[in-house]
Amino acid sequence: MIGLEKLNISSKSIPSLPLVIQEIINLSEKEENDFQVLIGKLQKDPGLTAQVLALANSSFYGLQNKVSSLREACIVLGVHTLKSIALAAGIINHFPASKLSAVSVDDIWRHSVGTAVAARVLAELTVVEPDLAFTAGLLHDIGKIIINKKARDKYLEVIEYKKHNDCYMLDAEKVVLGITHAEVGEFVAKKWKLPEPICSVIRYHHADFEQAESKLPALIHVADIVSCGLLAEVVEDSMIYPFDSKALEMLSLDIETIGKYLQVIDKMIGVSGSILLAKH
Ligand SMILES: [Fe+2]
Ligand SMILES: [Fe+2]
Repeated sequence: MIGLEKLNISSKSIPSLPLVIQEIINLSEKEENDFQVLIGKLQKDPGLTAQVLALANSSFYGLQNKVSSLREACIVLGVHTLKSIALAAGIINHFPASKLSAVSVDDIWRHSVGTAVAARVLAELTVVEPDLAFTAGLLHDIGKIIINKKARDKYLEVIEYKKHNDCYMLDAEKVVLGITHAEVGEFVAKKWKLPEPICSVIRYHHADFEQAESKLPALIHVADIVSCGLLAEVVEDSMIYPFDSKALEMLSLDIETIGKYLQVIDKMIGVSGSILLAKH
């Protein structure tokens, strides 16, 4: 793809994920059911373990009694929830804030945590699995993180173009780079062998979500907009995109219903953000 070449992104040059995260992603279904395997991998990283326990014990998961070990957390929350927390913390830690980025990496992650939280809360109103929604929300803009890391100067050109032409970031990316962060993200996600539903969200969270096999991209599209709205004063306007109401139809959701959850989503973004972004 010409856009990828322009950004100096190739199969060989994409940043790799930390081993523990790659191992967690690659857990087979059989291993997932045996939570000792997940715990064994997580224990290799004490910092990550501490973060996982902190989030598990936060009001986001609403546990009656606090858990003090990964084993307990796994029993109470379930292996899929624990896996989604570990992936979120591990991937955010691996791409820390940098003064050398065109767009604030912290802002991208803050927006991504917001999307993950909104997606998890709203998933409960749909047929989408909440833990999968959380991971997908967190990773939906991973393409921006990669472009920032690999081609900062080119992303600065995109921002300049956006300013001068008063257009959406996605359109500026198409003109300047010949590729969008959604396409770059999908390329990287496939190389990392992320599960297919997550790759699909990364590609289709702005448009064409009906092309995806599941309703997950439509849910992330809605969660993306909710996150933009709630964090409007914190993150830059480079996160703002047009909203396609087709997503609501696909999910059988309406604005009024979503409105009832905004307060709780806002509070949970604060809680999870302070733990997941603690190392930034
Ligand atoms: Fe995006
Ligand atoms: Fe986004």
